[in-house]
Parts: sequence; C-alpha cells; structure tokens
Amino acid sequence: MNVKILDHPLLLHKLTQIRDEQASTVKFRQMINEIGGLMAYEITRDLPVREVVVKTPVTKTTGYTIEGKKMVIVPILRAGLGMMDGILQMIPAARIGHVGIARDETTLQPHEYYAKFPEGLDAREIFIVDPMLATGGSANAAIDAVKKRGAKRIKLICLVGAPEGVIAVNAAHPDVDIFLVSLDEKLNEKGYIVPGLGDAGDRIFGTK
Ligand code: PRP
Ligand code: URA
Repeated sequence: MNVKILDHPLLLHKLTQIRDEQASTVKFRQMINEIGGLMAYEITRDLPVREVVVKTPVTKTTGYTIEGKKMVIVPILRAGLGMMDGILQMIPAARIGHVGIARDETTLQPHEYYAKFPEGLDAREIFIVDPMLATGGSANAAIDAVKKRGAKRIKLICLVGAPEGVIAVNAAHPDVDIFLVSLDEKLNEKGYIVPGLGDAGDRIFGTK
C-alpha cells in the first residue's frame, strides 16, 4: 500500500482526544485544526527551495525561498474545511480550491455537487484534504476533479483511513501519495471507519 503514516506524538495525542465520543464540538474543531497544521508541516517537507540573498540588519547572507507557483489546498466539503484554518496558519499564501462531494448514505457512492479551483493546476502542487478516507470513493472523485483540470502533482491528506480506502485510491491513482495519522482496522457494515471517530462533518459542524 502506498501510504505514509504520520505518527508524530502530538498528532497521536490530538487524534486520541477527538476519537473520544465525549469530545465537545469546540474541542473537536480546535484539535482537528491543530492536526491540520501539524500535518501541513510534515507533508511539505519535500517542497523545492531556491537560494536567495537576504540582507539582515547585520550583513548579507544566503537564505531559501519556496520555489514554484503557489500550492493549492483543496478541502473536500464539508469535513475537509475543518482542517483548513490550521493548514493556512502554516501555509498562508496557499491558493484554495473547493470540491463538494457527498457520499450517499445507502449506496456509499460519491456525488459531486460543487467544484471551483484556481487557475493553472497543472503547474502547482495540489493537497486534497479530508479527515476521513473510508471507501475511498470521495477521495477518488476529488482526485478525478483536479486531474480533469490538469493537476499532475497531487497529495491526499487524511486523518484516519481504512485499508479499503487506501487500496481503492492506490488502484485508481497510483501516482497520488496518501498521508494519514492512523490506518484503522476496517469499515463497518454502514461504511464507517472502525474504530474511527464517527461522522467527521457532523462532529465539526455540530449537525447531530
Ligand atoms: C465523509 C467524509 C469523506 C467521506 C469519506 O463525508 O468527510 O468526504 O465521507 O467516505 P468515502 O471514503 O467512503 O467516500 P460525507 O459524504 O459524509 O459529507 P460531509 O463532509 O458533508 O459530512
Ligand atoms: N465519513 C465519516 O465522516 N466517517 C466515517 O467513518 C466514514 C465516512
């Protein structure tokens, strides 16, 4: 399986706090944003940098700046929005695309209802963000949506994944690297990740 597990102690600690069914909406929102920021730090490790000269108050020296066009963060609506503030604290200049995908509760099939992206996806690094990778249907639909508009360098950033979802994304998009904090055990009969953390969108937005 092409998947990288980010098992930094801070990530493990915060994930455990939001797995707790007693976590309040306030706590869930705060933690999932903090997780987004920490994941952003880890997944941008390999961004190319270019040497630049900078004049400090003392002398000239060589420093580094991130090379290339601004990267694009694409939250899958709704739940992906929950990680965005944290990610943008780390990468404030990122461009943002949106893709709305709802999973049919009975068939578990994804349905795209909204899409809007910045120009020039072909020349940018794209980070698709969604806390939950269950069957992989929503992630695959989001990847299809950006590829259809020219995207070539794509990473999928999720918090919790099921093996079924990782396998499905690997099969459809072997060029896309997947990042998780936890690869959980399985899906249950309703398509929920076990042990998971329940319905991420409902817990972020307080809709249940
Ligand atoms: C959830 C979740 C993912 C998707 C994962 O969204 O945020 O987008 O399900 O499931 P999959 O891997 O089987 O496609 P949902 O469709 O419930 O929408 P919401 O974010 O609006 O709650
Ligand atoms: N979507 C969620 O929000 N949670 C799951 O466990 C599966 C899909």
